[in-house]
Amino acid sequence: MSTIKHLIAPSVLAADFANLSKDIQMVNESEADWFHIDIMDGVFVPNISFGFPVMQAISKHAKKPLDVHLMIVDPDRYLKVCKDNGAEIITVHYEACTHLHRTLAGIKELGCKAGVALNPHTSVQLLKDVIQDIDLVCLMSVNPGFGGQKFIAHTYTKIRELRALAAGVNDTLQIEIDGGVTLDNAGALLQAGADVLVAGSFVFNSSTPLDTVRKLKAVDYT
Ligand code: DX5
Ligand code: ZN
Repeated sequence: MSTIKHLIAPSVLAADFANLSKDIQMVNESEADWFHIDIMDGVFVPNISFGFPVMQAISKHAKKPLDVHLMIVDPDRYLKVCKDNGAEIITVHYEACTHLHRTLAGIKELGCKAGVALNPHTSVQLLKDVIQDIDLVCLMSVNPGFGGQKFIAHTYTKIRELRALAAGVNDTLQIEIDGGVTLDNAGALLQAGADVLVAGSFVFNSSTPLDTVRKLKAVDYT
């Protein structure tokens, strides 16, 4: 039995946008820990999701922290508006930041937790010189841009490598897994060293989403 309790972050990307308040209420009532908010610009990723006005509307109803995943180029331009619209955790992509160290400092100056997301092809070793400045690393277990994709199994290796990289330097680092998470892989992901599981379609396409969240939260990984 594990003693460290993992976190579940349902991705609103898979919610019913025509009934958003109902789905927000579901997450509020569930055992989920965070709302995962996917912002896409159609440039960094080949899709556009929703922007800050929608995020602001979500934040007015959300009773849990907003974990914001910025899949956009030049994220520095939007950090403040992101914070002002309710973000508690702001995650930028490694691949979108020329001056990642500066960007992370900017996020922390706003009073937010600073996250870095890595695309499936991006090595965790590239974080070696900045690992102590990161609160959360989001390992993409699909290519970002769309919900409902197939989980990439190499993610397990990346989790172990990242935990080893952070050991003794940043032992409170949170490792988040984003993409294709289901009850079939949740236990193995947590066992490998993940702390936060994002789940979009698996939660919102479920006929019993409250129960699905409860099951993800109850996964035993020893
Ligand atoms: C993908 C997004 C994910 C997505 C996950 O680009 O970052 O957060 O919503 O969706 P599922 O869980 O359906 O793979
Ligand atoms: Zn995401």
